[in-house]
Amino acid sequence: MNKAQKKVLVTGGAGFIGSHVVRRMVNKYPEYQIINLDKLTYAGNLSNLKDIENKANYTFVRGDITDAIFIDKLFEEYLFDGVIHLAAESHVDRSISNPLEFVQTNVLGTVNLLNAARKLWKFQSEQGKTNFRFYHISTDEVYGSLGAEGLFTEDTPYDPHSPYSASKASSDHFVRAYYDTYKLPTIISNCSNNYGSYHFPEKLIPLAINNIKNMKPIPVYGKGENVRDWLFVEDHAAAIDLIFHQGKIGDTYNIGGNNEWKNIELIHLLCKIMDNKLHRTEGTSASLITFVKDRAGHDLRYAIDSSKLQKELNWKPSLQFEEGLEKTVTWYLDNEEWLNNVTSGAYMEYYNEQYVRR
Ligand code: NAD
Ligand code: DAU
Repeated sequence: MNKAQKKVLVTGGAGFIGSHVVRRMVNKYPEYQIINLDKLTYAGNLSNLKDIENKANYTFVRGDITDAIFIDKLFEEYLFDGVIHLAAESHVDRSISNPLEFVQTNVLGTVNLLNAARKLWKFQSEQGKTNFRFYHISTDEVYGSLGAEGLFTEDTPYDPHSPYSASKASSDHFVRAYYDTYKLPTIISNCSNNYGSYHFPEKLIPLAINNIKNMKPIPVYGKGENVRDWLFVEDHAAAIDLIFHQGKIGDTYNIGGNNEWKNIELIHLLCKIMDNKLHRTEGTSASLITFVKDRAGHDLRYAIDSSKLQKELNWKPSLQFEEGLEKTVTWYLDNEEWLNNVTSGAYMEYYNEQYVRR
């Protein structure tokens, strides 16, 4: 995609990763018009984008990707030059209690976007315009679970285990099917676990930070032996920017931190950082660790081989984990109001009144 192209749709831009992508694109590409489409579910929050909300090249539209008529109209109105699709239900535990919502947003919502993109791309091709691309953001969870050894590569067969990962795998298959069948210019990336600011405190790291801060138990599933590969969210946003502009159409890119941690070891590191920051006696936060019933179908280990992205597009993670985690803890401690408002649902109530869904 070259600089002459202007209108970029980012879906799910009010969420955790999406807000970092929107912020980066709005600040870095003043010549682009960035349209952030988000339903503002419990996970999406416009206070995540306060610093850029008044920028001339930023537009927010509240809407639901499961509504095909609305999506078609939006594409006709804006005639996008590209799409970065992040909107999704993203929490594994919620997918276990309510799988259908994940099918609706992650599968049906993605297919609605693909259909609208296909019509627009066909129209643009007839006008001689050929730069359109549909970039789908996915997860390493589609590859299933690793044993003690090995890494997920772009060729690892899909083997999802949770309703969340099954819905993401299904959406990836649809994206590839639209490339194979209709030649719609698509790209997919599959990333490992992100951490950083604006992460909703239902996921392990922000939940643990919030609980440690409030001297509440830190729930660790099973024995805490499960391994995740953690990547700083701004490094993911940088990879998305790079792949959107330079990725090869039809290709898949794995993104990961080369940074594996057993949950229990990560929690101990976090406790140490928090004791230090909160001037608590060493061991105070760790005393909150509570082993609880394991997650059903809990994948043992995820680890990403991101060498393709590193070699072909020259991307690499910018931060060491300890540094990133410390930055993250500092952000949460400095942003108490944000944390209180997302956990109480106050932001949700406020934005529900401010923004009517189209
Ligand atoms: P998130 O839950 O923080 O944000 C999702 C956003 O999508 C929210 O703003 C929400 O309001 C919006 N949304 C949900 N349903 C919608 C609908 N029907 N219509 C329009 N908007 C809707 O998620 P996240 O962690 O930022 O993840 C973003 C994407 O990245 C997802 O596709 C996820 O699968 C993928 N991903 C996440 C991670 C991670 O570690 N968080 C890692 C790899 C891939
Ligand atoms: O791998 C990428 C995926 O990472 C993304 O696709 C998902 O959207 C994202 O939510 C994340 O999924 P995980 O299930 O790995 O993240 P979560 O933070 O929920 O859990 C991380 C690990 O910590 C996992 O092994 C489960 C465990 N856990 C989680 C919670 C919420 C606990 O032990 N206790 C908890 O309270």
